[in-house]
Amino acid sequence: MIAATVGSAVGLGTIWRFPAMTQANGGAAFLLIYVVCAFGLGVPLMLSEFALGRSTRSDAVGAFQKLAHGKLWWLVGAGAVLVSYIIMMYYMVVGGWTLEYLVESVTGNLYSGQHTPAHFTELMHNYVMTDWMPVIFTWIFIAMNIFVLLGGVQKGIERMANVMMPLLFVLLAIFCTVTLTMPGAGAGVEFFLHPDFSKITAEVVISALGQALFSLSLGMGILITYGAYYPERTPLTRTSVTVVSMTLVVALLTGLIIFPAVASTGLIDQGLSGTTLVFVTLPQVFAVLPCPQLWSILFFILLTVAALTSTVSISEVSIRLLQERTHCSRRTAVLWVLCPIFAFAAVCSLSFGALSGIKFCGMIIFDALDTLSNNYILPIVALGTCIYAGWFAPAELLRRQLTNNGTLRGRATALILFVIRWLAPPAIVAILVANII
Ligand code: PHE
Repeated sequence: MIAATVGSAVGLGTIWRFPAMTQANGGAAFLLIYVVCAFGLGVPLMLSEFALGRSTRSDAVGAFQKLAHGKLWWLVGAGAVLVSYIIMMYYMVVGGWTLEYLVESVTGNLYSGQHTPAHFTELMHNYVMTDWMPVIFTWIFIAMNIFVLLGGVQKGIERMANVMMPLLFVLLAIFCTVTLTMPGAGAGVEFFLHPDFSKITAEVVISALGQALFSLSLGMGILITYGAYYPERTPLTRTSVTVVSMTLVVALLTGLIIFPAVASTGLIDQGLSGTTLVFVTLPQVFAVLPCPQLWSILFFILLTVAALTSTVSISEVSIRLLQERTHCSRRTAVLWVLCPIFAFAAVCSLSFGALSGIKFCGMIIFDALDTLSNNYILPIVALGTCIYAGWFAPAELLRRQLTNNGTLRGRATALILFVIRWLAPPAIVAILVANII
């Protein structure tokens, strides 16, 4: 289950969004604040979700219903289910792209033309924005999720995580060795690890906080749901520190892959924008290495694995809810949750092409769903969760969960409770306010 939780956290948010955010926010200074946020706020927030899940052994909505019977706190859980479902709709599409790039790397099409930025941009346009190919790959990706989820939590999710997470670490280590030895890699390392404190602004802090929430899978009901599967004897505090540390290791390794590589190839000056980083910049990097296809295949396997362990976790939120409510079989729940996603994800994918005319507040459907979920609903759910856990949950709940009913010493409990009560809420309100204005 711990491997599965790390798998959930380590997703496209950590491997792809993180380097782009680091670049946009001035490098090492951002990294530093991200690390502080991940440990300082991420661990306590993760613990409140674990505690709610494990003490009730229910789903994201049921956890609040059981603890706050007759009150409206269940709406926080409902928000978590809603946001997780919305994220599924568009995240599956990105999973489809990674799969498509993997296939294009295997066939060699990705490297058959000139290796210029213009060419890779055009290819990305063709792969991602044409009407049917990306939809088909998205569907294949959804089918892969269904396959794993039908296996159940232990035989499906846990077994997959136990194989894939070590694979992911091995691949990251191989890449790191390659990129760190590229000529001129030092400038990238310097940018990533040598902080320039003058670059720290309120905006940088708030972005780092938002990134910490997203990359640790907080505020989506995932950790409440996974927490419900944790054995009674699992030490929660240690587990959350492990999960956060492993996620940070992946983020660090990713940075040590991307920044030296782009520095060495001179691409850093182009700026690493979110979407193009993985699909335009990296193929250019692979093109200068011997055997571009091999690196490309390995990298897109890595990315597909990372995406899959995250989408599986986010699907589990609704699956568990449905199973608890209707007592239906696992199979029925999996199919009811994921089959509609075939249609919703197709709409998201087509919003880059055929449906690009449909706009909400000037954004295509894909971007609108991303903004709605990450900028608004997710922080609201995270805020609701920590206010509930800190101030309204039964007084002994957190203490009992963190000490496994008094069998562990739980030295950090008071500190964690302090953070959940006093520091986390204003920090999350700051993210919300910054997103609204
Ligand atoms: N931490 C995950 C990531 O970095 C967040 C996430 C989980 C997103 C599950 C979607 C699905 O990608």
